[in-house]
Amino acid sequence: MVFSLWGCNKEESAAEETTIETSEIEVPSLPDQVFGYSDLVFPAAWLQDPALQLFGGFGSDIAVTDHGATLGRVLFYDAQLSQDGTVSCSTCHAQERAFTDGQTKSVGVSGNETHRNAMALFNVGYQRRLFWDVRTIGIENQVLQPIEHPDEMAMDLDELTERLTGMEHYKALFIDAFGDEEITEDRIASALSQFVLCMHSYSSRFDAGLENDFIHFTAAEVLGKDIFFNGDSRCNQCHSGKNLFSTQPFINGLEVDYAASGDAGVGALTNDPFDDGRFKTVSLRNIGLTAPYMHDGRFASLRDVVDFYSDDIQPHAYLDERLGVAGFGVPGQAPYQLNLTEEEREGLVAFLKTFNDTIMPTAEWLSDPF
Ligand code: HEC
Ligand code: HEC
Repeated sequence: MVFSLWGCNKEESAAEETTIETSEIEVPSLPDQVFGYSDLVFPAAWLQDPALQLFGGFGSDIAVTDHGATLGRVLFYDAQLSQDGTVSCSTCHAQERAFTDGQTKSVGVSGNETHRNAMALFNVGYQRRLFWDVRTIGIENQVLQPIEHPDEMAMDLDELTERLTGMEHYKALFIDAFGDEEITEDRIASALSQFVLCMHSYSSRFDAGLENDFIHFTAAEVLGKDIFFNGDSRCNQCHSGKNLFSTQPFINGLEVDYAASGDAGVGALTNDPFDDGRFKTVSLRNIGLTAPYMHDGRFASLRDVVDFYSDDIQPHAYLDERLGVAGFGVPGQAPYQLNLTEEEREGLVAFLKTFNDTIMPTAEWLSDPF
């Protein structure tokens, strides 16, 4: 359904129309019965995972309500949150790609490229520190940043609350979510956070394997699993626990000197050589859906990633010890050489794809309501 935002007086609205080009506003179609977002819970095995309990303790404490997340869903997919009405969160975070966009760098309203590769979104409740350089603490402090960022949505927040206040269909959504129709920055942030917190991902071929002893795995997947968990590759020592991630940022040896090559990650914030190239140790769940890879999208395929870990880790003054020859001790050792065979490389790639979620990428409750 489509109606005109500016009513019939075209002349009076000419001024506004120079800042917002779209005059036709789409209205979302939502289910008659609100979806039970507040009923979404992680499986018992997750809730009992000691590492995740610890991380969860540092995660978000925002309470998710059914109407709050419903409003968040509409906001997440609404291009009216951007200055020229062309970019929504979902432009760079598309559900079918585990909320990434398939681009090396994303393009926002400005036509400029973003500084880094768009990150996958799921299990955010277990993550306290956000962005590749973990600069922001708490999802509620993150969600307004892309709206204001000049290279992403370039929208002034006062203008946004005014714009949404002028859109009839948001009234009922805010009343249902917060008790009255007042639209504020804090309420927008809360609703967006609630929706993002509902992007749960714990259903994959790998998870099924944990239940059935991997009887449904191919020979290649079994080989890849053995490499992932053996003490030589140490993949699981950084991408660890149920969520296959770490809350700590590590240096995985993409560059000898990251600052010199343009992005020092945490090091750009601290100016400490110890942090040069320290980046968030992202989860490997859904990794088959989120190419290209790494903070700058440098690797087009998982095969490129596996080739990198096998043969091409760079010597770095503070390379994480798990990627060094000894595997423990001090950072900055010579990088390990896995020298994987062709069969082992293909096996590891096949295994990594078993982390793809079988529900989240098509779940109705996370989909575009417009
Ligand atoms: C133009 C593309 C673009 C748009 C639009 C965009 N993002 Fe992002 N998003 C990115 C990029 C790029 C990063 C990584 C930036 C960095 O680390 O410096 C990111 C990172 C994130 C993260 C951090 C994830 C993590 O694991 O640390 C969250 C959460 C997020 N975005 C949510 C949103 C929300 C909510 C919106 C809409 C309000 C949005 N994004 C709009 C490109 C975009
Ligand atoms: C020292 C800890 C560490 C070890 C060991 C490690 N990784 Fe990583 N991994 C990281 C970090 C940190 C990043 C992000 C680096 C960046 O983008 O600059 C990463 C990124 C990745 C990515 C890309 C993620 C994305 O969304 O772009 C994949 C895939 C990956 N690792 C797979 C593996 C595999 C397979 C192994 C074992 C061969 C492994 N990792 C071993 C720390 C580690």
